[in-house]
Amino acid sequence: MTIGFILNGEDVVIRTEADTRLLDILREIFNLLGAKCGCLTGICGLCSVIFNGNVAPACLIPAFRIRGCEIITIEGFSQTDEYQDILRGFSQAGVENCGYCDAGKILAAEALLEKISRPSKTDITAAFNGIRCRCTEPDRLVEGVLLTADIRQRRLYGRSA
Ligand code: FES
Ligand code: FES
Repeated sequence: MTIGFILNGEDVVIRTEADTRLLDILREIFNLLGAKCGCLTGICGLCSVIFNGNVAPACLIPAFRIRGCEIITIEGFSQTDEYQDILRGFSQAGVENCGYCDAGKILAAEALLEKISRPSKTDITAAFNGIRCRCTEPDRLVEGVLLTADIRQRRLYGRSA
C-alpha cells in the first residue's frame, strides 16, 4: 500500500505492507536508527517516537495506522531548541545517558512538556511509564523534567514558571 505521513516535519510517501512496523519503516526505509529494536512488545520504550503528539512505541504501530499522521523521531527532535532544553535539564539533574533508553526518555519528556508546561511529579511518573531506564533513579528523572521546565520557561519568557 502507499502511505503518506509527516516525518520530522516533512511530507513523505512510502510503499509498504499494511502490517509493517513503524519501527522497521524508520530504520529500513529512512535509515533513522535512533528508535532501537528492543523487546518488540511495547514494554521497553527503546523504539519510542512522538506519534501525533504522544510518545509511543514504534514497534507496536503498523503501517496502516500512520497514514496522515505526524511522527517525530529523536533525529528530527535533536535539531530543536526544545531538545537542548532537555539535555541541559537532564544534565543538571544527573540523569544518566548510557545510550540504551536516551531517545525514549527525551521524547517522553518532550511529549509531556508540550502538553503541560509545569508538570507535577505524578504527571512525570505517568509520562515515563513506558520507558524502562535501568540507570536513572525515578526521582532524578522527575528532577530533570522539572529543571527542563524551568529552563524552557526562562528561554521562552525570560522567567521561571
Ligand atoms: S522495542 Fe518497542 S517497546 Fe521495546
Ligand atoms: S540511561 Fe541507561 S537504561 Fe536509561
